[in-house]
Amino acid sequence: MNSSWRDESAWWQRGAIYQIYPRSFKDSRGDGIGDLPGIASKLDYLAWLGVGAVWISPFYPSPMVDFGYDVTGYLDVDPIFGTLDDFDELLTRAHGLGLKVILDFVPNHTSDQHPWFQESRSSHTNPKSDWYIWRDARRNGGPPNNWLSHFGGPAWTLDERISKYYMHSFLPEQPDLNWRNPDVRDAMLDVLRFWLDRGVDGFRMDAIQALIKDAQFRDDPPNPNYRKGVDQPRDSLLHRYSQDQPEAHARIRDFRRLLDTYDDRVSIGEVSYSLSLNDLVAYYGRDDGLNLPANFKLITLPWQATAIHEYVDRYERALPSFAWPNYVLGNHDRARVASRIGSGQARVAAMLLLTLRGTPFIYYGEEIGMRDVELSVHQLQDPHGIRVPGQGRDQARSPMQWSAEPHAGFSESEPWLPVGASYRTINVSVQREDSSSMLNLYRRLLEYRRETPALTIGSYRSLDGTPDDCFLYFREFEGQRLLIALNFSAKDRTVSLEHPAKGRVVLSTYLDREGHINLSSLRLRSHEGCLIEL
Ligand code: GLC
Repeated sequence: MNSSWRDESAWWQRGAIYQIYPRSFKDSRGDGIGDLPGIASKLDYLAWLGVGAVWISPFYPSPMVDFGYDVTGYLDVDPIFGTLDDFDELLTRAHGLGLKVILDFVPNHTSDQHPWFQESRSSHTNPKSDWYIWRDARRNGGPPNNWLSHFGGPAWTLDERISKYYMHSFLPEQPDLNWRNPDVRDAMLDVLRFWLDRGVDGFRMDAIQALIKDAQFRDDPPNPNYRKGVDQPRDSLLHRYSQDQPEAHARIRDFRRLLDTYDDRVSIGEVSYSLSLNDLVAYYGRDDGLNLPANFKLITLPWQATAIHEYVDRYERALPSFAWPNYVLGNHDRARVASRIGSGQARVAAMLLLTLRGTPFIYYGEEIGMRDVELSVHQLQDPHGIRVPGQGRDQARSPMQWSAEPHAGFSESEPWLPVGASYRTINVSVQREDSSSMLNLYRRLLEYRRETPALTIGSYRSLDGTPDDCFLYFREFEGQRLLIALNFSAKDRTVSLEHPAKGRVVLSTYLDREGHINLSSLRLRSHEGCLIEL
């Protein structure tokens, strides 16, 4: 097989994208907070692991109320994380190792400390007064409508000085920009240009579903399925008017058009977790939409073979021919996969993620099976968790576990969040030496995926009629054929295939078997996945 398949696909289709939460990856200065030189010092590791790109969560100047998702300047680096020179050095080093670098772009809102907001709130006549979403109180004096913030409470805060409410989809310290104002769009396109000119390879666009709100500011309707006391208060409403407006697609088109004036850049969007397939697919565009609207279903679906099988088939069918799938197993907003589904299942999840058709997203630490940390109330840092008990995201943001040294080799001093209790065994340095570790499973899967077109860009077809707790599928490219067989159950399962009857195991999630097998009776152990060449 020649290697032209590489030229016919984009780098972001072939390589896995590794998400780094910069506060927690590696601290180079001993202040307990990760930084850009820290990340740069670990790029060799990421190249060894075999990912194709890193996406770095925000490192821009910020009061850190939402840990960087509240930006006060889009064209710089917060001193906590380093300098622009540090960033340039990181980028050069990454490119030298063949790694792409994707930035987090936060277009929906700024910090309330951003000079734009300061100007906007200074007076009705300020040229930036319309850069944010300002509305008068209702006649009864309350907020302009019933919209709710993601982080608890109303999505409106009164600015008493100018007697108007401003809108915030998230914290009051994160006012939403008014994307119906072309000046906002132009300023943000300049932000993208700034980083593109510096050489970044693309953007993960934050909260893109919230960009445009209903022009008439209608109340969101009640959610008939809301379970009081069970669901989050925000789920009491359907967010029909406060997000996911069709006009957002025109703004995304502007981003995409700009990115396409540069070579080979990628646009990834954080969209709503609960989108219908039709609405998710609408965020794609051959040349006017996103390359990868993030697909969070592996996070939100029940961890059952039938549910996942059924979803992957539907997703595959719903995608237009030009659209490329993607799968997210974890991120900085959700519990870690090993804690959600257990360590045994996390291996099956790794094989699933890295063998499905589509770009895999790996959240830092998943490759060693890091688990959520337990925190006492006084250790909480995340404003969401502080405002809405139980909704915190700190547990999935603990320091990367590099070694069994103090603070898991993350820092010389006490980290900003506690390290995981099991860091002495769950860490990179121990797992590098252990041929059956999670780390080596990830590494071998990534290596095989990179070299095998059937896995990287080949077609997908699932098999019906297997035991309910197993999920089997073929990946195929020009005569190269693979079977992936995943046992989601804690019990042994036997699957039988008539055609073909023979295969060769290349990789088991146990990392303890290879070689020829009889497919008419293939025994899978508890939580075992096998990658089989046919
Ligand atoms: C996105 C981010 C989340 C952040 C929010 C507000 O959902 O993933 O971490 O808090 O946007 O910016």
